[in-house]
Amino acid sequence: MPAASTLSLSMDSNPLKILLASSEAVPFAKTGGLADVAGTLPLEMARLGHQVRLVIPRYGAIDGVAHGFKEWTRITVPTASGSISAIIERGRLSDHGAVGKLPAECDVLAVRHDPYFARKGLYQESGVDFPDNVERFAFFCRAVMELLPALAKADGWTPDLLHAHDWQTALCVVYPRTLYAQQPALKGLRSILTVHNLGYQGLFPASEYPKTGLAWDLFTPAGLEFYGSMNLLKGGLIFADFLTTVSPTYSREIQTAEFGFGLEGVVRERGDRLVGIVNGVDVEVWNPTTDPHVPYRYSASDLSGKQQCKTALQREMHLPVRDVPLLGIVSRLVPQKGMDLVAEVLPELVAQDLQVVLLGTGEPSFEALFRSLQARFPDKIGLRIGFDEGLAHRIEAGADMVLMPSRYEPCGLSQLYSLRYGAVPIVRRTGGLADTVVPYSPRAIREGRATGFAFGEATAQALLTTVLLALRVYEDRNEWRSLVQAGMQTDVSWARSARAYADLYRKALGARG
Ligand code: ADP
Ligand code: GLC
Repeated sequence: MPAASTLSLSMDSNPLKILLASSEAVPFAKTGGLADVAGTLPLEMARLGHQVRLVIPRYGAIDGVAHGFKEWTRITVPTASGSISAIIERGRLSDHGAVGKLPAECDVLAVRHDPYFARKGLYQESGVDFPDNVERFAFFCRAVMELLPALAKADGWTPDLLHAHDWQTALCVVYPRTLYAQQPALKGLRSILTVHNLGYQGLFPASEYPKTGLAWDLFTPAGLEFYGSMNLLKGGLIFADFLTTVSPTYSREIQTAEFGFGLEGVVRERGDRLVGIVNGVDVEVWNPTTDPHVPYRYSASDLSGKQQCKTALQREMHLPVRDVPLLGIVSRLVPQKGMDLVAEVLPELVAQDLQVVLLGTGEPSFEALFRSLQARFPDKIGLRIGFDEGLAHRIEAGADMVLMPSRYEPCGLSQLYSLRYGAVPIVRRTGGLADTVVPYSPRAIREGRATGFAFGEATAQALLTTVLLALRVYEDRNEWRSLVQAGMQTDVSWARSARAYADLYRKALGARG
């Protein structure tokens, strides 16, 4: 373990003050990978010596007592329907560090207004979006603006840069340049918007626009208007000083009509301000040698625990305990993730001597489809519809392979967890999947580089052919071990990416215009 002094040498001598605004963050509230990034990046930045504060909505689902959230102050937020008061709760995000890693912590501010946020879901319930999402997130973003003078006054803390994520917080980069342009506490504030998924834009009818509080002269094709509707993400794309997305390949893809969802022109125009930085993972939370969620621990050099995890998973999912290849899927059940392809190939796949374990939640039609497939093949398919963090870990630990046939994938975290847990990823060659998985080929395996399997066409046939190839390679124990070990040794930590963000923050501080 490097001495603390060696570690501190890697800290930045000129700390930056960053406010990171996100609509979800682990361990407080999560629906997907955004939460993993928003809950980990601040700690990585703190480790580099920067001062980061995270601001999130105080959802009802957050266990405020367990997380030690306490009321800190109250602010008044002007909105289109009058002033609304919000409680600002304060807590800490921390990690105890580990071998070679300093402990880190940062301040968390949670914006509390129960009529908006004390609900079961974050954005929707039973698959239906809340009808007041514009009000909710415009309110949140305005609360972030109103919070800045409070922070300056109470703590003498003024951020250099605000880092927003996705459509829910896109207004946080619009307001400083528009509605709040005259606010002294926001003077000189730079901004970055990270696009985690261009498929979700915060698209609403024009009639909702007044709820943002923005002037109508911004509701034009050069502003937040998008073919007659309001597009919140577009506002962020236009006003942020810099844009990032979560992998280099996706940063190129979103400049094309195939992946741009109509915003490719806007993204292309800002191409010189767009950077692709691949996500890391929390290598302590996702660590097969220490993971408290899994029944047996293992490492790349001793995989016996993985075999035991597999047996335990078969039991947990009510599958016969047999020595057959076990394919795992942990995914939102939506078309983006290629779940239609999975449903299409499953009847053919289960004709092979294998088992499939699927954990997911999402579109009711997919849930019903997978339920009926499971009922048809109960000895071959184990299914859990729902969100279950522990089971997600146990699937990565127990599965031999994990399927991620996404139609598009900005980064993807599941395949990074799979690499770390020796569950060989089978992915479609797109976005972050293309950037993080080295596909099997005789040469790549000879050179010890191959970590998974990849296919190009988004078709059930291409997926099937690739799974069949993986099953053949699985028979060759040496080749398989090489894939598993190369994956487990891949560096999927945040180290490099956190530095890339820090470099970009500095660049943003030096640039404008
Ligand atoms: P996305 O954010 O697009 O859903 P990612 O691969 O980036 O995709 O992140 C998904 C995250 O959510 C991973 O941490 C994965 O383990 C987790 N996840 C997805 N579905 C479930 C589920 N049903 N139960 C538990 N965890 C899930
Ligand atoms: C989005 C993307 C996913 C990415 C995650 C975190 O949910 O769909 O690919 O890994 O954000 O950046």
